[in-house]
Amino acid sequence: MAFPATRLRRLRKTRGIRDLVRESHVSPAHLVQPMFVLPGDSREEPVASMPGVSRLSVDRAVAEAQHLHELGISAVLLFGLPEDKDETGSGAWDADGAVQRAVAAIKAETPALTVITDVCLCAYTSHGHCGVLDRQGDVDNDETLELLARTAISHAAAGADAVAPSDMMDGRVGALRAALDEDDFPNTAIVAYSAKFASAFYGPFRDAADSAPASGPGVAEDRRGYQMDPANAREAVREAQLDVEEGADIVMVKPGLPYLDVIRRVRDAVDTPVAAYNVSGEYAMVKAAAAAGYLDERAAVTETLLSLRRAGADIIVTYHAKDFATWNQ
Ligand code: PBG
Repeated sequence: MAFPATRLRRLRKTRGIRDLVRESHVSPAHLVQPMFVLPGDSREEPVASMPGVSRLSVDRAVAEAQHLHELGISAVLLFGLPEDKDETGSGAWDADGAVQRAVAAIKAETPALTVITDVCLCAYTSHGHCGVLDRQGDVDNDETLELLARTAISHAAAGADAVAPSDMMDGRVGALRAALDEDDFPNTAIVAYSAKFASAFYGPFRDAADSAPASGPGVAEDRRGYQMDPANAREAVREAQLDVEEGADIVMVKPGLPYLDVIRRVRDAVDTPVAAYNVSGEYAMVKAAAAAGYLDERAAVTETLLSLRRAGADIIVTYHAKDFATWNQ
């Protein structure tokens, strides 16, 4: 039956009808707030390219995490900054590192908040790459696996509910699962950054985490040798399927908004929960446009998060989590 018998506007007529027929929903319970933790005490350093986001020392991070939990946000994703960097990124598995101390302190203060840790070496290596370099300056996949496993174990030992490898080495989910099981952490979940693209939208994050890759003689030029080509969607599905086979509990697509088709394809291809990462550059664009008065921030953020849910994301990692939860109290 077509027009005039069919009129789709009938179900858009009132707010009540629209509420009744809405297909996708987003609430703070679907959201994960990323946080950057620093060594030291009473430190709070705003990230210039990400208005509203600060790097926090552990004491401040604990208070912030408690506040996020009270707002109804389900989880935090922790990134750490080390005191010192070296060639292998050894600060990443320091039992006394900022992330390890933050995990333990947050779980002690707010046990009901899920704590996920980012597992990668890029903020800890002097060259800023996500793994160790071989003689040619390429990131050595298999040598890196062991260091990632060590890092994941240190996070699990501190009490992390889940570890999230974001390095894009082949075989890292299997390596982490085996290492966690062997060290008696069978219940620590793995959130795999399965389809992580070599994206221009990570720029502000690299300011926040001080993790921009170096380039020059003997060092891989950028992350394209390990992160995915933005042109590839079939390959993203293979990445997700392999990670599920290797033991991933949740798979993730990253960035979010420019990759809605990839989120949908991954959602249809696997049966684990799917997360989407609404990354730093996506956040910075909205913040900048809102500050300039070019768009309504609350409406734009709500539409963005809803779009990610509609595309198939069960979970959204987003720097907007705190604002969204505050608006919806
Ligand atoms: C580390 C990592 C990155 C992000 C999350 N984990 C940066 C990168 O790969 O360069 C990006 C997050 C964001 O932009 O919000 N490998």
